[in-house]
Amino acid sequence: MSADELRATARACANIALIKYWGARDHDRNLPLNDSISLTLAGAETVTTVAYDPDLAVDEIYLDGERLLDHRAARVVRHLDRIRAAYYPWRARVASVNGFPASTGLASSASGFAALTAAAIAAFGEGLPPRGELAAWARLGSGSAARSVPGGFVLLRAAEDHDASTAASLFPETHWDLRDLCVIVSTEAKEIPSERGHRLAAAHPFMRARQRLLPGRLAAVQAAVAARDMDALGPLVEQEAMEVQALMLSSTPSCLYMTPGTVAFLRAVPRWRAEGLPVYLTLDAGPNPHLLCEAGVEADVLERIRELAPQTKVLRCRPGPGVTLVREHLL
Ligand code: DP6
Repeated sequence: MSADELRATARACANIALIKYWGARDHDRNLPLNDSISLTLAGAETVTTVAYDPDLAVDEIYLDGERLLDHRAARVVRHLDRIRAAYYPWRARVASVNGFPASTGLASSASGFAALTAAAIAAFGEGLPPRGELAAWARLGSGSAARSVPGGFVLLRAAEDHDASTAASLFPETHWDLRDLCVIVSTEAKEIPSERGHRLAAAHPFMRARQRLLPGRLAAVQAAVAARDMDALGPLVEQEAMEVQALMLSSTPSCLYMTPGTVAFLRAVPRWRAEGLPVYLTLDAGPNPHLLCEAGVEADVLERIRELAPQTKVLRCRPGPGVTLVREHLL
């Protein structure tokens, strides 16, 4: 096989969790404690090329044009090692570009590890495994990355074994024209990695109560998405986000991801709703609020954001597809 054939490039979208994965039952394999549901985000993509070179002594990882030599590179290498253990032992050059600021709570690791997994497997030239299997592979790199594999509205199952803890589309991206406006109130890298948060959450005394109420909320979110019912979905998503933030805040040590910019939106969104604008908010392990609304009111929501935070960049996303292989390589 020529070196040129040992190369593949994949594009994956980030996703925003409507029901969060926060707390793992197995930290080495990223097996979540509970099912989660997300919306795949077109408008926030990562493109990654993996090129194996049997003569290379170490992996070379490039992000947005710069060689990574820190813990982020080590995390990529660990993931490649897992994949190589099932295929071939070759080292690789990996180049990745993000269409959005990394490590800001917009889960760049989700799109990143979904694209990395697909490209790393495809580059062996033996085709991709079925989507469910690919999603489980991606989960090993980053739990939420499993949800960036299938596309549309996605369910990641919590299960005790690797194969069953995988993601599948509940509805395709064409099902409902929702909009996610991610307000970049901060581009600082997050101080507390999610992995640490998952450990703290699993040991949190409120976790049991959360596990008891989640099946009902998961079913209600699925039903609201099925019915394209924003009045039903919005409050569930907001409640879920606040509950997870409360869990984060009350962990020992506390995980505080919000900044004053985040809080300004927490206060404003209910006010805008009271004034008749159907918009809801969610947060991940980061400071940037995601404002969810239907396409018809997106322009009004954008106007409100601009009034509140005139200088702030807003990433406008819509339901997106699953991971795809592309022909334009970065290497
Ligand atoms: C709060 O373990 O997927 O976004 O790989 O570190 O990005 P990283 O995080 P991951 O945890 C995701 C946590 C969350 C909720 C979610 O996306 O479900």
